[in-house]
This record gives sequence, structure tokens and C-alpha cells, in this order.
Amino acid sequence: MKILGIETSCDETSAAVVEDGVTILSNAIASQVDIHARFGGVVPELASRAHVELILPIVQEALDQADCALDDIDCIAVINRPGLIGALIVGVAAAKTIAYGANLPLIGVHHLEAHIYANFLVEPDIDFPLVCLVVSGGHSDLVSMSGHGRYEILARTRDDAAGEAFDKCARAMGLGYPGGPLIDKLARKGNPTAVDFPRARVGDTLDFSFSGLKTAVIRYVQTASGKTPIEDLAASFQQAVVDVLVDHTFRAAREEGVSRVLLAGGVAANSALQSTMKSIGEQLAIAVSAPPPVLCTDNAAMAASAAYFSYQRGETAGLDLDCFASEPLASSPPQ
Ligand code: KG4
Ligand code: ZN
Repeated sequence: MKILGIETSCDETSAAVVEDGVTILSNAIASQVDIHARFGGVVPELASRAHVELILPIVQEALDQADCALDDIDCIAVINRPGLIGALIVGVAAAKTIAYGANLPLIGVHHLEAHIYANFLVEPDIDFPLVCLVVSGGHSDLVSMSGHGRYEILARTRDDAAGEAFDKCARAMGLGYPGGPLIDKLARKGNPTAVDFPRARVGDTLDFSFSGLKTAVIRYVQTASGKTPIEDLAASFQQAVVDVLVDHTFRAAREEGVSRVLLAGGVAANSALQSTMKSIGEQLAIAVSAPPPVLCTDNAAMAASAAYFSYQRGETAGLDLDCFASEPLASSPPQ
């Protein structure tokens, strides 16, 4: 079964063709970084306008790269929640139009579910139960999965998301946007113990809090950064984030009694996070999976993968499919 996926929830316009939920035939991604970089963050209205211009060429590119015509496609999948509402509307309108015109079933996909399913594009036979760390620009959640489409949220952030902390701290350090990849690169040449930034805990919960760390970095930059090489600053900040994410994820795995952990979302592309998770996972005999960076950040292949498993459960949408700026990840209704 070939699914055409569409993703426009933030600042990437993407379309992909995925076969049987696990084989990528194409994954075309048009980044809008150049449009937003000079503003230091995503400008929602500019994102919507860019999506309008890019969506049809990107869909065509995805079909061409997969060597497919619309006739070869069996289903249209689109991320419809959560995200920038004006940006989501563009992808959903395109998906509905194509589904209607080609008489194909339509599936609305939750953005975080799509991030999680990026893992199945790399390892199709991942077994359950598992714990997934979903860390992106807007979310930092620990999710327990007992099966396909079965989610329980174990923890979330009480304030900033991990990606938001990367972006805001990068801005404070005078780096560009998005901050995550820039800090990742600089940190490779820095000393992660140069500055002892705080690692916050929220009581005895697994919840995250990154705003204190962000404030500490901003204050450090304002008062003392001249003495510290930028590489050391980046490495020390990144280490504080990685320590907390690793600690909470393996605590969650232990509490849930699972022997598999997945990483998902843009921050999961972080090289220090991936390598630390994998080496500690080895010590604890917990298998750690993480998609390659291009599948961690926003893309449409992950939406097509998630949709394949939704389709197996009969979860197709009507042409009244709506968009939602915020909506928690919830389990599919029991079969
Ligand atoms: O999932 P994503 O592409 O978009 C959202 O759903 O938000 O995540 C984007 C976030 C940004 O905050 C970006 O700085 C961060 O992921 N990010 C990274 C890396 N690559 C992207 N953070 C740390 N290290 C990276 N290599
Ligand atoms: Zn995302």
C-alpha cells in the first residue's frame, strides 16, 4: 500500500510516498529556514504563505522521486494537529483536495504520533511495550506505548520544550536559527564540564523543566561569557539538557519495566543525545532506537508511516477533517 504523506505544521513543507508504512519511496522537504532566520524564529504568517507556494511543487516532487502517478497512490495522509493553525490549514486543504479529486481515503495524523513512527521507517519490527522520548521545538514528552496507536503520556515539560531551550539559548549566545543544529556542531569542539548549568527536577515526577536552565544561560552570557569560549558554553548547555533527558527516559523505562526506548522529534537529531542514550542503553540492556537526523526533524514520511498503521485500524477521516493548534496525543479507540 502506497501512502502520500503531507506535512506543513511548522516551517517545513514536505510530501512523501511510503510503502506499507516502512519503506520510503520519496521524502521531499522544502525548508523555510532562510525566510525565518533573520527574525530569529518562525513567523507564522510567513510560514503559511510559503506553504501555499511550495505545497503543490513538493507533492509533485515526491510523486516524481517515487516514480509514481496519483493513480499508484492508495491513501492520502496529512498532519492536522497540533501546529501553527495557518500552516496546518494549507497541508490539510491540499490533502483533502487531492483525496477528493483522486477518490482516495484521507487520514489525519497527530504530529507527535508521526515523530514516533519515524522510528518504524528505520526499524520496521520494533516490539512493544516501549517508552518514547518525544523532544521537538514545541514538546518534551515521555510516552509509554503498549502497542500501535496505544499511548500513555508519562511526563511533559512544565515550561519550555527542549528544542525551545536550544533555540532560545542559541539566540542568547549570538548564534543563528534554528539553534539546535548550531549548538550540536559547536559542542563537539567544546568542554561539557566548563560551566555547571542547572539540571532541574520537578519533585519526584518525570516532568521536565528547562526555563531555569535557559535563564541561567542568558544570565551567564550577559555577565560572564567573555571568559568562556563559545564551544564550551554550547557544550555545557547541551550537556545539561542531555543529562536530564537521559536520566528521565531511563527512569521511565525502569518504572514501566520496558527494555526498549525510542527517540523522536527534532532534538532527537542531537548527536550527543543519540550517543549518550545508546551507550547508557547498552549498559542497562535497554535497546535504544533513533531515526537519522533527517527523519527526526519535520518531514512527511513519518506522517505516511503513522497513517499506514491508523489505516489498518480503519481510522480514515472525512472531508470535514479539521486542524487543531493544540491537542494532546491520545490513544486510538480500542478495536
Ligand atoms: O520536530 P521539529 O523539526 O519541529 C517541531 O515539531 O518543533 O523540531 C525542531 C526543533 C528545533 O527546536 C531545533 O532547534 C531542534 O529541533 N533541533 C535540534 C537538532 N536539530 C534540530 N536540537 C538539538 N540538536 C540538533 N541536532
Ligand atoms: Zn516536529
